[in-house]
Amino acid sequence: MQLPPRIALVELLLAAAAVVTSACNIPTTSLSSNITGGFGILIQNPAYPVIHDRYMNLAVAGGGDKHLFLSPVGDYAFDLDLNTGFLEQDIIHAVIDGEYSEIDNTTKMFMTERGDPKAIFTPVYGCNPDNVTETQIQLAFATREESPVGGSICVRVASGNRGYEFRYSPPENPVLLSTPPSNLPSPTSTSTTSLPTATPTAPPTIPPTWTFLGCQTEATSTRALSSNTYANDSMTLESCADFCAGYTYFGTEYARECYCGDVFEEGSVEAAAVDCSFACAGDAGELCGAGNRLSVYSSS
Ligand SMILES: *[C@@H]1O[C@H](CO)[C@@H](O)[C@H](O)[C@H]1NC(C)=O
Ligand SMILES: *[C@@H]1O[C@H](CO)[C@@H](O)[C@H](O)[C@H]1NC(C)=O
Ligand SMILES: *[C@@H]1O[C@H](CO)[C@@H](O)[C@H](O)[C@H]1NC(C)=O
Ligand SMILES: *[C@@H]1O[C@H](CO)[C@@H](O)[C@H](O)[C@H]1NC(C)=O
Repeated sequence: MQLPPRIALVELLLAAAAVVTSACNIPTTSLSSNITGGFGILIQNPAYPVIHDRYMNLAVAGGGDKHLFLSPVGDYAFDLDLNTGFLEQDIIHAVIDGEYSEIDNTTKMFMTERGDPKAIFTPVYGCNPDNVTETQIQLAFATREESPVGGSICVRVASGNRGYEFRYSPPENPVLLSTPPSNLPSPTSTSTTSLPTATPTAPPTIPPTWTFLGCQTEATSTRALSSNTYANDSMTLESCADFCAGYTYFGTEYARECYCGDVFEEGSVEAAAVDCSFACAGDAGELCGAGNRLSVYSSS
């Protein structure tokens, strides 16, 4: 099984830019402004661990629109395309319009079928900030239609306990060039607990032979736990533990997937515990990983 393709959007949060040492091999060829076949967007800015390595998720809004949030809020989208620089999912595309905010001079980015000014991106090669020897494809924000060239896409805390939302900051935004206003939550004071997460209401009743190991990423080119798997909507930690009896590890992912194995395949690494935030499909009081994150238990 292949992991979905991903593209990194190296992001800005308010005024701070990521500082990345370039140590990878950047091809001299340019990339096409068309990328088809489906990809997801990983947000990267190691300077802000709370947003680093989260996906840009879509959430259904009114009128066929979808709003954009950082994972785990919203639905994972690994079916995005870039069409002459426009970011598309099926018949909707990314636009920048509405909900202008005086406090930071930014405007909302969301996805719609309608004719609002589009966001235009340019794919470029960059070095993965998590592994500076690794080349990756990044989406550089080029401009908003009908606006001066430039500007940036940022994320900031969303209203209504919905994690983080995506905003457009115009070029030379005087608000962003100065210190962020003190009445905005600063990135460092933004606690990860403001992200909606499922809180277990009762301790899991999995057999005591299993102990919780932590939250783990998928492997690079296969599943982290690749010996056996099933998925359905009655997933609980108990049913996955039963299914994986005899293996050293079991892990639940994306609320409804169960994986078993005796080793972690290459590339699977420990992730922040807060990443594993999806309630299990069959028991809302238990946590079953997230997108690309496994809640892992060990029998040894
Ligand atoms: C991108 O795709 C569009 C059609 O969706 C096509 O008109 C355009 O020529 C393509 N551009 C490149 C650079 O391939
Ligand atoms: C970093 O990337 C290089 C090049 O893709 C790869 O060979 C290496 O295994 C990676 N290191 C880690 C720790 O993932
Ligand atoms: C917003 O940014 C633009 C620069 O792109 C600037 O002309 C304008 O004055 C700013 N508005 C506020 C309220 O800061
Ligand atoms: C879910 O899968 C497990 C393991 O294969 C099976 O025992 C259970 O009956 C399934 N439940 C549903 C509702 O399909």
